[in-house]
Amino acid sequence: MNNWKFCLKNVLTEIRGIKVKENSMCGIFGCILKTGTAAPIIHQALKRLEYRGYDSVGEATIHEGKLFIKKDSGKIDEVHKLHNLDDMPGSIGIGHTRWATHGAPLKENAHPHVDCGGQIAIVHNGVIENFSQIKLELENKGHTFQSKTDTEVIAHLIEEAFKKNSSLRLADAVLEAVKRLEGSYAIAVISTNEPDKIVCARNESPLILGLAEEGLYCASDIPAILPITRRIINVDDGELVILTAEEFEIRKIADLSIVTREIKIIDWTPEMAVKQGYPHFMLKEIREQAACLRNTLRLQEHYLDLMSTFLDRSKEVFLVACGTSYHACLAASYMFSKLAYLATYPVIASEFVEQHGKSVNIDSTVLAVSQSGETADTIAAVNAARLRAATILGLTNVIGSTLTRISRVYICQQSGPEIGVAATKTFTSQLSVLAQLALRLAKKRGKISQDEMDYIEAKLKKIPEVVDLVINTQEEKVRLLARKYRDAKLFFFLGRGISTATAYEGRLKLMEIAYVPALAFPAGESKHGPISLIEKGVPAIFICPKDDTRKAILGNIMEMKARGATIITLVEEGDNEIKSFADDYIELPKGIPDVLSPIPYVIPLQLFAYYMAVEKGYDPDKPRNLAKSVTVQ
Ligand code: M6R
Repeated sequence: MNNWKFCLKNVLTEIRGIKVKENSMCGIFGCILKTGTAAPIIHQALKRLEYRGYDSVGEATIHEGKLFIKKDSGKIDEVHKLHNLDDMPGSIGIGHTRWATHGAPLKENAHPHVDCGGQIAIVHNGVIENFSQIKLELENKGHTFQSKTDTEVIAHLIEEAFKKNSSLRLADAVLEAVKRLEGSYAIAVISTNEPDKIVCARNESPLILGLAEEGLYCASDIPAILPITRRIINVDDGELVILTAEEFEIRKIADLSIVTREIKIIDWTPEMAVKQGYPHFMLKEIREQAACLRNTLRLQEHYLDLMSTFLDRSKEVFLVACGTSYHACLAASYMFSKLAYLATYPVIASEFVEQHGKSVNIDSTVLAVSQSGETADTIAAVNAARLRAATILGLTNVIGSTLTRISRVYICQQSGPEIGVAATKTFTSQLSVLAQLALRLAKKRGKISQDEMDYIEAKLKKIPEVVDLVINTQEEKVRLLARKYRDAKLFFFLGRGISTATAYEGRLKLMEIAYVPALAFPAGESKHGPISLIEKGVPAIFICPKDDTRKAILGNIMEMKARGATIITLVEEGDNEIKSFADDYIELPKGIPDVLSPIPYVIPLQLFAYYMAVEKGYDPDKPRNLAKSVTVQ
C-alpha cells in the first residue's frame, strides 16, 4: 500500500457524445500545476460548475507547506467580490460550489472542510448516510467539528488514520477513510504533509480527470475542464485516484489493483457540456431521475420522524402547493390515507386563504411543498397559516429558501438544481420523500402490518431501477407516439385513485411546454360532463396501473372508445385486456405498489410532453410566458 506507482500508459481514443448519467448537486474541482497559480483556474472552473449548485463556494490551496482557505455562502461572484478568490498562493488547490443538503448555506458549512489540525482539506459532492454515527465516534475521540455537514467527517477520518499510523501516505489515509463511508461521494483531498498530490475517490457521484501539458485536474463534470483541456478520463465507482502535476494513478478501492483507462477526447461545445450532451435541460433532468431518487433514499431519519410526529398530532393537515408540487401533494393525500389512515387536504396555494384562512388554527398543520421554496402563492398561504398559529412543515429543494426559514421543520428533496422550467426530476423526488413520510407516519400510527411496510419500503428502494428501465425501454416508443399525435388539437388525461395526480401532471407538462390544450380529471367524472367533448379521434391517455381502480378504469376506457376517442394507455406489462382496447400503449414494469405508481407512470408523460414540444419546434426549456420560480402572487 505504501508503494504507489504512477503510470500514464493509457490509450488515446476519440469519443463523440458521451452522456454522463448522474444528478447535479454540488461541483468539485481540483488543480495541480507544474508552475503557476491554481486559484484563478479553480475560480473559473467553479463558475462553469455553478449550474450544479450555487449557495456557497470555497477554495483551498497549499503554498510553502501552509493551507490557505477562502469560503463563504452566496453565489461565486458575490463571494469573489468579498474575498477575491483569485488571490491565493500555490500551484495546487481544490474548490467547491455547493447545493446544500446537510446544513444550511452558511459560511461554516461551505467547503472545503478541514481536520482539527488544519492540515487536510477536502471538497465533496454527495451524501454520506452514516455521518452522524461517524461524527459521534470521532467526537468521542476528541475531534471538534466546525460545520453541520456530512463532509467534515471525512477530513477527520483521514486525520484519525494518520493519528493511528503517522507513516501513512495521504492516499492510504484517504483509502481508510472512504472504506468507512456509506452513501455517495466524489471527493478531492489535499494535505500540507504531501503538498504535491491531490487524492480523489468516487462512489455514485461523478468524477473525471483532465490531462493537460501544464498540469492535471479533477472535476465533477466536463464543463469545468473543457476550456483547459479536451483530454479526459472517467473515474468509476469504487476507485481512488492520485494526481501529481505530471501523472495520475487509478486504483480500485476494494483490492488496490491498478486500473488502466482510455483517454477520451471531448468535442462538445461549452453549451453541450453543461447539458452533458443532451439537447435540452429537460431531457437531461428527465434522465437524471433515477439518480435523484437514489438521493431521496438517503434522507436524515430524524427529520422524517419529527415531521411525522407533527402530522400525527394534528387535528387537520393541509398539503399546500402550486403546479407540479400541488400534484405531488394530491398524490401524497392518497399515500397518507392508504398507508397511515390520515385524512389530509391538498390545497392549491393561491386558494388557501379564501378556502381555509378563517378556519386554520393552532391544531392545524400545513405541509407546504415547493421545489424552489420561494413560490409567492405558497409562501403567502404559509404566512397566513402561521398568523393563526398553525404548525408549518416544509418540503423543498432549496435549503436556505424562504420556506425553510418559515417552517417549523423542513426536509430537503435533494434533487439538485433544476434548470428546465418544467418540473420533472423534482416531482418524482417529492413523491419519494412524501411516500417515506407516509410510511413513517404509518409506522407511528401502527396502521399497516410490518410485512406490508417492509414490502413497500423494499419496492421504494427499487424505484430508481424501475425508472431507469422505463426510460431505457419506452423512450423511443414515446418519441414515436409524439410524432404520431403531433397535430392533435386536444388531449384527455385520465386516471383514478392516485393516478388522478399522474394524469394532472401529464396534462400540465403537455400544456406548458407543447402548448396543446388538454383536460385531466378523475376518470369517473367523464360522464358528469367532459365526455361531451369527445369526438372521433380525440386522444385520451389513460393511466392504468394494476391496482384497485383497474376494473373501473376499464369501464371508462370503454365509454370513451364507444364515442370515438383514440385510446392511449399506460399499462402494466402483461395486462393484455387493457392493451386490447388501446390504439397505442406504453408498458410499465409489473409489481409497483399503487402508492408508488405515480413515480414511474409519470415518466412516459414527461417524455411525451418533451417530444411533442420538440416535434412542434418549441424550446422545452423555455416555455413562453413562464418562469422557473413564480415569485409574484
Ligand atoms: O417551486 P415550486 O415547486 O413552488 O413551483 C411550483 C410551480 O410554479 C411549478 O411546479 C410549475 O407549475 C412548473 N412550471 C411545472 O412544471
